[in-house]
Amino acid sequence: MWLNPSNPQLNKNGELHHLLTLEGLPEAILWQILDTAKSFVGVTQREVKKVPLLRGKAVFNLFFEPSTRTRTTFEIAAKRLSADVINLAINQSSQSKGESVLDTVANLAAMQADMFIVRHAASGAPHLISRHVAPEIHIINAGDGRHAHPTQGLLDMFTIRHYKQDFSSLRVAIIGDILHSRVARSQIHALTTLGCPEIRVIGPKTLLPSHVEKLGVHVYHDMRNGLKDVDVVMMLRLQSERMQGALLPSAQEFYKYYGLTEDKLALARPDAIVLHPGPMNRGVEIDSSVADGGQSVILPQVTFGIGIRMAVMSILAGN
Ligand code: CP
Repeated sequence: MWLNPSNPQLNKNGELHHLLTLEGLPEAILWQILDTAKSFVGVTQREVKKVPLLRGKAVFNLFFEPSTRTRTTFEIAAKRLSADVINLAINQSSQSKGESVLDTVANLAAMQADMFIVRHAASGAPHLISRHVAPEIHIINAGDGRHAHPTQGLLDMFTIRHYKQDFSSLRVAIIGDILHSRVARSQIHALTTLGCPEIRVIGPKTLLPSHVEKLGVHVYHDMRNGLKDVDVVMMLRLQSERMQGALLPSAQEFYKYYGLTEDKLALARPDAIVLHPGPMNRGVEIDSSVADGGQSVILPQVTFGIGIRMAVMSILAGN
């Protein structure tokens, strides 16, 4: 076993081999990814946007759940690193004939895959795959169930650093459906590791995990109290596809208490920035006037996602 047994996404030298979760990832590796991404954001602004770091490598996008931003920006990032990119069309693959995920991956690995980008509705699917591939293959989690979405967490950190420079004096609020959100978990782990002193989670009791405060966050049920004087407002999507039973009276009721409107945003610091991982439910989590307003950095988040994904893939390929 050449991976680090206490953190199987690291190799024996403590370097990143797979990216499965931000939980337990050393601070130095987070900074390495953020710094590397910064240099790639420069590349993406050049006329010639390609660098040869992944030339000759085959990157397979395996998205067992729908995606617009993550799948596309991974593809752009891999192409800018000069990799060959294969997007498996899951609906037209032998998955529909009952092939298991591990058999699908084994067959693609036999086609000389170097890296798999995996999104799956089941928490832990990328971990499972990582335990069954050859040692030279890298796995990147592109979102698994409610568990983790590490590259989203990283691009959110990149966005915050871009606008706020450092994390050491920030108040950050994460708002909405924390219970079902893999994004919120990745954000909390990254903010904590990077030294953010105050993380608030805001939502109704039914949409907060029990004992969430054990993650070191402050819990608010009243959005107006929770937003007071924050520097960063991170909205989340209501994950209706992961909800079982009636956790909410109605979307309208949710919007009334937890939707981000201009009057609620006015309680945050005047220079506060607003993030949302997308896709947005306008008029449910966020009002259009805020989503499209001067404090929104929602579209820059998407652009920074390319640099972050280039950074992750190039670091893995080099380790
Ligand atoms: N933020 C995010 O994961 O968006 P997609 O589902 O479009 O990839």
